[in-house]
Amino acid sequence: MTSANLPGHPFVHYRRGTLCVEGVELGALAREHGTPLFVYSKAAMLAALGAYQRGFTGRKAQVCYAMKANSTLGVLQVFAQAGCGFDIVSGGELARVIAAGGDARKVIFSGVGKTRAEMRQALQAGIGCFNVESEAELDVLNAVAVEHGSTAPISIRVNPNVDPKTHPYISTGLKGNKFGVAHERTLETYQRAARLPGLRIVGIDCHIGSQITDSAPYLDALDRMLDLVTAIEAHGIPLEHIDLGGGLGIDYNGDTPPAADALWAQLLAKLDARGFGERKLMIEPGRSLVGNAGVCVTEVLYLKPGEHKNFCVVDAAMNDLPRPAMYQAFHRIVPLQEHTERSALLCDVVGPVCESGDWIGRDRQISAQAGEHLAVLSAGAYCVSMSSNYNSRPRAAELLVDGDAVHVLRPRESVAQLFAGEMLR
Ligand code: LLP
Repeated sequence: MTSANLPGHPFVHYRRGTLCVEGVELGALAREHGTPLFVYSKAAMLAALGAYQRGFTGRKAQVCYAMKANSTLGVLQVFAQAGCGFDIVSGGELARVIAAGGDARKVIFSGVGKTRAEMRQALQAGIGCFNVESEAELDVLNAVAVEHGSTAPISIRVNPNVDPKTHPYISTGLKGNKFGVAHERTLETYQRAARLPGLRIVGIDCHIGSQITDSAPYLDALDRMLDLVTAIEAHGIPLEHIDLGGGLGIDYNGDTPPAADALWAQLLAKLDARGFGERKLMIEPGRSLVGNAGVCVTEVLYLKPGEHKNFCVVDAAMNDLPRPAMYQAFHRIVPLQEHTERSALLCDVVGPVCESGDWIGRDRQISAQAGEHLAVLSAGAYCVSMSSNYNSRPRAAELLVDGDAVHVLRPRESVAQLFAGEMLR
């Protein structure tokens, strides 16, 4: 029996053969709160944030947590209390930041499709920066700001045309992507923005993709951004900050992304070498702050041996853990109770949803029996925030572990809540 931490999960470990998050046994939580159940480690979130903060020691920098990764209020509260800003992509996310006690002035608003109503809401709240993604958006934001009687602080999101070498659905900085303004049109776009009375230029922004496990694309993007900063400032448009987006990967399956502080040491060395060491930096990490802070505990409902394949049917499904179905993503699946003496069955771990795409893991060695529990790892990012009620399945409960203490962040949804707002004619 091991007492080791699981790879990539410094706060998830077996204690006397029983899986724990920090000081708390997951089996006890599953019995008390039912399954599927998301459990997050506060220490893991703060450790992940700490790696960025260490990397920025002595620099002018702001971490804006990309809350699309996990927008549960109690998770936002952890980051707000640690001094984070937030990268938002909707009016709904802005409302969540404020409800969680976040500081609107540290909010940056990304996204290609901001509506006028969302722009007004963000101006009213006094957010720090709009990351504008097109020339058409510049005009609309200008008009909304003039009408509102204020000026909108803006960055232009540049598409640096750098290949982040990640899954095509989550690479965002290539020419064929819908995001940002083409590298070649950036200067003209800044000049246009500078002529609009409702806008105040504060920075420049890029984001090249997600689950990036190599420093090279970041270094390339930074070089291209610094070339642009030089050109834009040569035309009399000063830029207070450079925003390099998010995207740093995590260890799902033996992936070896650079540590945040190591990556930033390289990026800061380049900034210094090119004479931009004093510039304020913004970053928008999502997955790397929460991904490996969370696990999803699920109960084995049935073992279903088959002629071609064996199946392990669990009570979590694609509505709770959508990443395998959407991106063929890999999440490690481990038992809550280590049974070294048992033989394992090679099977696909699948959920109860009526779709062949509803799988959580393929070709896994599973030794758990029906009625026992498994933990799906790396479930802190892009799971609950992308979950749905498909098949009229209530959303799972979410807990935050802090040392030996357990806080309910979201109780399990009830079936009645699912259709409480619906009407019969
Ligand atoms: N900033 C912008 C403008 C973004 O679009 C994103 C993510 C981030 C920051 C944060 O990126 P991160 O640090 O989390 O990689 N649902 C997919 C990931 C989609 C990412 C979308 N944009 C998944 O589950 O893999």
